Amino acid sequence: MTSLPTVLITGASSGIGATYAERFAGRGHDLVLAARDKARLDTLAARLREERGVSVDVLQADLTLPADLAAVETRLRDDARIGILINNAGMGQAGGFVQQSAAGIERLITLNTTALTRLAAAVAPRFVQSRTGAIVNIGSVVGFAPELGMSIYGATKAFVLFLSQGLNLELSPSGVYVQAVLPAATRTEIWERAGVDVNTLTEVMEVGELVDAALVGFDRRELVTIPPLHVAARWDALDGARQGLLSDIRQAHVADRYRPEA
Ligand SMILES: NC(=O)c1ccc[n+]([C@@H]2O[C@H](COP(=O)([O-])OP(=O)(O)OC[C@H]3O[C@@H](n4cnc5c(N)ncnc54)[C@H](OP(=O)(O)O)[C@@H]3O)[C@@H](O)[C@H]2O)c1
Repeated sequence: MTSLPTVLITGASSGIGATYAERFAGRGHDLVLAARDKARLDTLAARLREERGVSVDVLQADLTLPADLAAVETRLRDDARIGILINNAGMGQAGGFVQQSAAGIERLITLNTTALTRLAAAVAPRFVQSRTGAIVNIGSVVGFAPELGMSIYGATKAFVLFLSQGLNLELSPSGVYVQAVLPAATRTEIWERAGVDVNTLTEVMEVGELVDAALVGFDRRELVTIPPLHVAARWDALDGARQGLLSDIRQAHVADRYRPEA
């Protein structure tokens, strides 16, 4: 019998990441859990070892710090048992664009995009070589919605969707599965961390429901999984419109509407 791949989950100390850990442990996968809060990771790891009988390693890492990020990259490169990466660690945005500090912008973009990309890049060559493996990137429906007033956070999540689509095209011919998961408002600590009382939101999904749906998409090998989107054809229409737009891009000459008046 071939053994199940180990799953490395970033941001596993709470919310969506901790729930992925529960679910993959329930499926019998060994885990590597990464986040900053080692005490929480240790508590979760001990419980999953005890209740599920799986092996769980803990990596304390602040993914915005170069040395910590490099350590997680090294683990992904070198540990051939790891066959699934859940690129989940992320943070929200408190306040509008003019309220952001330079350091806050840097941290948000580094965690939500740079770290996620570097971790995928660390593991992808090994997955390609072994012609197996899965990379799951947690985006957000906010990446579709500049109207929501979270411009930097939304931009990072638009990046996650684009990156996932591109990686799917580049890696799937080598047998590597890439999934983008796009939650909407989900009851986790991300809201409180960004200074928002989650109870003031009109509709919120429970985290177990979100992750179970994401895993339905995972098991189907879906590229883009949007659990709160009730009309699946909306996504197909959006992606079809994008491809239609590309078919009307002609590189040699400008469109007539941009020709200078004679
Ligand atoms: N909840 C929602 O409504 C929602 C909606 C759409 C998308 N998402 C996305 O879902 C993902 C998970 O968020 P969540 O909702 O589960 O929120 P959460 O409960 O706040 O979890 C975030 C996780 O990321 C870790 N983390 C934060 N900063 C980190 C850093 N610098 N280095 C390493 N780990 C760090 C946190 O652990 P430590 O503090 O221990 O480091 C925690 O485990 C994020 O990418 C988020 O953007 C959430």
